[in-house]
Formats: sequence, structure tokens, C-alpha cells
Amino acid sequence: MHEFRRVLDVNEVPDPGKTLVEVDGEMVALFHVEGAWYAIDDVCTHDGGPLADGELRDFRIACPRHGAKFDIRTGAALTMPAVRATRAHDVKVEDAAVWVRLRSSSFAEGPAAHAAGSATGRSTGAAAPLPATPTAPPLVTDGPVAAGEGTAAPAGPLCEDVVREILKEVKDPELFVNIVDLGLIYGVTLAPSPDVPTKQHVSIDMTMTSPACPAGPQLIADTKRALTARPDVSQVEVRIVMDPPWTPDRMTDAARDQLGIF
Ligand code: FES
Repeated sequence: MHEFRRVLDVNEVPDPGKTLVEVDGEMVALFHVEGAWYAIDDVCTHDGGPLADGELRDFRIACPRHGAKFDIRTGAALTMPAVRATRAHDVKVEDAAVWVRLRSSSFAEGPAAHAAGSATGRSTGAAAPLPATPTAPPLVTDGPVAAGEGTAAPAGPLCEDVVREILKEVKDPELFVNIVDLGLIYGVTLAPSPDVPTKQHVSIDMTMTSPACPAGPQLIADTKRALTARPDVSQVEVRIVMDPPWTPDRMTDAARDQLGIF
């Protein structure tokens, strides 16, 4: 069991404000919002991004690396690509100073917010690890793909449903969930090819889980590769659309199950 450690004077961080403190050898992001203090691990559960360097808005901190947002009061992951909470810690204000006590358990043990003068705390933050990385390779590879080769491409004439079924072969390289179930496909448009009347020109409106998603170029390339594998596709155009922004509620139940989100 850790002890409360004095980390700074209450007047050292404005309201709203944030800073990075060290507590018992661990780096902790400390927040001062609406008269209360909150502390969470300075670690994004997506890929270790430094949360104290992120943008603070109300009670949310955005990871500066890929944009996942966390609730500073609980450590809960609010947006992709993070799917697991980061650990929250106890905070109290005493003798005009802010004190932090590390929590070692994954889930809440008591109250959270730490208004000035309060010595109670709450934390539902979980430091649970990300889901185990599947070892199976993505279905879409870097090599050339002939029509029907290495895929379970659905038969029948090309239509939006068939396109969406094909795009289930394309998986986010970090989450290992296909882009259709993640809710990344906003639109599918088919038009006869002006050059080859027997083929179709396919336009895909695709979004990303965050504007700075590092997987973007790979997802676009894999999408084109999956669709051009069909003999009745002449060309594939992928447009990235960030409006409306992606939110986790766009995921299907299958994707939630895969990610362990309930
Ligand atoms: S490391 Fe934080 S969103 Fe990727």
C-alpha cells in the first residue's frame, strides 16, 4: 500500500491546468480542473503516449500521439485507439499542498474527485493491459492479389453489400478489427467504368479513428488492394472523411466483443 506523497503547492498549477509529477518513482499526470485535483498515470494505454503532454479540455485529456481521449477523473478511455483505462490515483489537498497516493489495483477502491480541502479520492481507472496481440497475419498482404486468390471474396455481382463484405478483409493493424465493423466506412459508391463498361469504378468514403491515425496509409492501400482483386473492378478511389468524426459508438457489437468493450 502506497502512502500519500506531497507533490506541489496548490498555487503551482492554474485552474484549469496540468503538470507532470513523480510519485514513488512513477510519472503521474496531475490535473487541476474546476477547483478539484485528479491524477492518472502518464501513460496512454494505446501505445504509451505521455498524457501530461496532451490537450486538456474540461475533464478530458487527449493523448498527443494518436489522439485517444481519457477521462481525468477516472482514467477511463473515451475514444479510440485506446480501449483500456489508464490507472487513476488518490489525491488530497492538505496544508496548501497537493498530495498523491499511487493506487496499485486496477479498479476503484473509493471516491475520486479531490476538491480543495478534501482528503478523499475515487478511482475507476484500470491499468489493465491491451488485448493480447493476435499472431495471425492480416488477410490482406503486401503482395499482388489476383481475383479470388487468398481471400474469401463474396461471389455475385458487385454492389454495396458485396463491397462491404470484401472490406471486412481489411483490418486495422493495431486493433486487429476489420474496418467495416470498426465503423470506418462512411460510404460506398459504384459507377460504370468509362473505359471498360463491364467493370465498375468504386469510391469509398473512409474515416479514421483519429486525425493523426498512423495506420491511415496502410488502410487505404489495403482497401484498394482488396477491391481491385475483383475482376469486375476497374478502379478504386478512397477519400478520407473526418466529418462527422468517428466515435466508438460506430463500432458493431462484433467489434466491441473483439476489443472487450461492453
Ligand atoms: S499512444 Fe496514445 S493514442 Fe496512441
